[in-house]
Amino acid sequence: MILTRLQHATYKRLLKPVLFMMDPEFVHRRFIAVGYLLGSNPVTRWILSVFLSYRHPSLEQTICGLRFSNPVGLAGGFDKDAYLMKILPSVGFGWMEIGSVTARHCAGNAGKHLWRLPKSKGIVVHYGLKNNGAAWIAHRLSKKRYAIPLGLNVARTNDEEASASDLAGIRDYIATLSTCPDVGDYVTLNVSCPNSCGGETFLEPHRLDQLLTAVDGLKISKPIFLKIAADLSTTEVDAILEVADRHRVDGFIFSNLTKNYRAAGIVPSELTPEMKGGISGKPVEALSNALIAHVFKQKGTKYVIIGCGGIFSAQDAYGKIRAGASLVQLITGMIFEGPQLIGEINRGLVDLLKKDGFSSLSEAIGADVK
Ligand SMILES: Cc1cc2nc3c(=O)[nH]c(=O)nc-3n(C[C@H](O)[C@H](O)[C@H](O)COP(=O)(O)O)c2cc1C
Repeated sequence: MILTRLQHATYKRLLKPVLFMMDPEFVHRRFIAVGYLLGSNPVTRWILSVFLSYRHPSLEQTICGLRFSNPVGLAGGFDKDAYLMKILPSVGFGWMEIGSVTARHCAGNAGKHLWRLPKSKGIVVHYGLKNNGAAWIAHRLSKKRYAIPLGLNVARTNDEEASASDLAGIRDYIATLSTCPDVGDYVTLNVSCPNSCGGETFLEPHRLDQLLTAVDGLKISKPIFLKIAADLSTTEVDAILEVADRHRVDGFIFSNLTKNYRAAGIVPSELTPEMKGGISGKPVEALSNALIAHVFKQKGTKYVIIGCGGIFSAQDAYGKIRAGASLVQLITGMIFEGPQLIGEINRGLVDLLKKDGFSSLSEAIGADVK
């Protein structure tokens, strides 16, 4: 406990002030490089796991045949090109998602990609699906297995070729899935990237239906999750559920970034005209929680619900679980609070479960909605 507090204070008082003075994309690249280096050595992996990771039987679950030692995963977009698979289990993550990966290499959008919003506790993200492409990922990761479940987050390439028509977009998703059939333990179809040419085409029910029909044709044996936008009405979500009911969909990630610059929690004075893209972190939290609760109310446990958006503490993660999520994911909380946050969340979840009289995490799922 004292050690956890010390790690927390060290990050927030010493490291974070320095990191937050630097360009966010530069810091992101350095984090990946350091994480890759630390992960390539068994001694550094062991040292980090002693200091950071936390295990407890009440957090373990088997979902879609995959074993999760704890519910906290790294969300898509931090480890775009899959460098951190070896270090993330030592940091305490129970699972991880790489990508978004697209059929072709993509340099990302022109100009600046990231802006921090310290008061709003969010990040404006305008990467535009920057990644090395499916062939590169397949070459490095095919048939490899890691200590924790790994998801392949797939999006449509951010170029004119893939956004020329719905058919071109669908072909692009299928090309990635066909290039990477042996990468990872589950697939996330990111149909909600707010930062690419052509927009979020595949959230529209008719187009989603066409995409999922094509994906069904691949007969993928792994779990398939859909990653959904934050700014949807319940009517729009219901239409998506109706489409999903007709296809091979195992679950949903709620949610991606918000495009609403007036979302609750955003401090307007932090926004500048040069900022463009979606916003992560605390402004997404309430939107994501509302979607989770709505879908759990509609569908119960028919779909696996993965909660994502604004998790900065164990209480935040628990809120999503009590709303109906079986698993949670994060990025921004780790950037604002430090990498020791993952262990803190897991430790805190055990306490919260005990306090509420639950002997396992699965008993708490949807407790606020049932
Ligand atoms: C720097 C950054 C890059 C992201 N890139 C992607 C991406 O490539 N694909 C994706 O599905 N989501 C991406 N996201 C969205 C996150 O996966 C997540 O849905 C969102 O940030 C909300 O979670 P958070 O508040 O814990 O960050 C990105 C988020 C951030 C902060």
